[in-house]
Amino acid sequence: MLIKKRTGIEIPSSEITPKSAYLSRRQFMRGAALSTAAVAAGGLLAACDSPDAEPGSSAADVSAVQTAMPGKVSATADELGDPLNTFEEITTYNNYYEFSINKDSVASLSKNLPTAPWQVAVGGLVNKPKIYDLEDLMAIEQEERIYRLRCVEAWSMVIPWLGFPLAKLLNEVEPTSAAKYVRFETVQDRENMPGLNSSLFPWPYVEGLRLDEAMNDLAILSTGLYGEALLPQNGAPIRLVVPWKYGFKSIKSIVKIDLVDTMPESLWMKTAPNEYGFYATVNPNVDHPRWSQATERRIGEFGRRETLMFNGYGEFVAHLYDDPDFDTTQTVRGQ
Ligand code: MTE
Repeated sequence: MLIKKRTGIEIPSSEITPKSAYLSRRQFMRGAALSTAAVAAGGLLAACDSPDAEPGSSAADVSAVQTAMPGKVSATADELGDPLNTFEEITTYNNYYEFSINKDSVASLSKNLPTAPWQVAVGGLVNKPKIYDLEDLMAIEQEERIYRLRCVEAWSMVIPWLGFPLAKLLNEVEPTSAAKYVRFETVQDRENMPGLNSSLFPWPYVEGLRLDEAMNDLAILSTGLYGEALLPQNGAPIRLVVPWKYGFKSIKSIVKIDLVDTMPESLWMKTAPNEYGFYATVNPNVDHPRWSQATERRIGEFGRRETLMFNGYGEFVAHLYDDPDFDTTQTVRGQ
């Protein structure tokens, strides 16, 4: 069931857009673009590769654009007037290290990931732990949320997600008063995820939120985009989307959600604690140790645009970090 219900993130209303409108001419205008593997100094893989790497640069990509058949959405732009990225851009330029460190390979390598049947175990410090079948989660009212996704690598997209507020699920299981954080875990399917053979990462992919962040209405569990079910490369069948934080917080293909009393240590905190922290809120004033976060490259555009504090969602989330002791350097790095 798709209910277009909005929070404060209202988008200008418009008629349903014809599919052809999504087939971005920008794809065809794009010149030769870089597409580099994510190998960082010191042999460590980064949560991102070259900030300028871009999809859609090959002839094969262009033909894929011509056959794109995205579903329906309610608007062609976000609430700032920024146009949606195309279905092709969103589904062919992906970070999903369980498959590959190469963004352009994720779609083909992940296409056989079995995503049904699927269960998500929600437990830990809750009164009503429950193992949810995907069907239970799909029965929750699905909303459209058009959000900017800002990767820590300094690229971004505007994506029309389908999903529901994470708070709805958390309220169902009733966190106890001892619960302070939420820990998320991605499936480890060794048969279908070749990247799990890499010993560079402490699998499984784990992420976490503070409980009040998780209860914020902007945090959603997404089951689809562009009016269609999620594809494996985007985290099918269900993933987190936290638009005011760097993209690596938005963990894909979730199988486990636990309420806990201590701050979860994420895969990226373990992998490169000097570079990736728990909070990871988008902040143009705190640079990554190896590159600036002041600007970003919107996929499909030439040039760069300024990065917005909290990715433009400050009015909804800044109050979460009002504590005068909150260390803003944690927004990127570990403590
Ligand atoms: N989740 C898992 N399990 N594995 C990953 O490698 N990459 C993260 C995040 N979630 C990742 C993940 C990063 S770095 C980003 S930027 C986003 O997914 C990208 O989401 P997208 O491919 O749907 O745009």
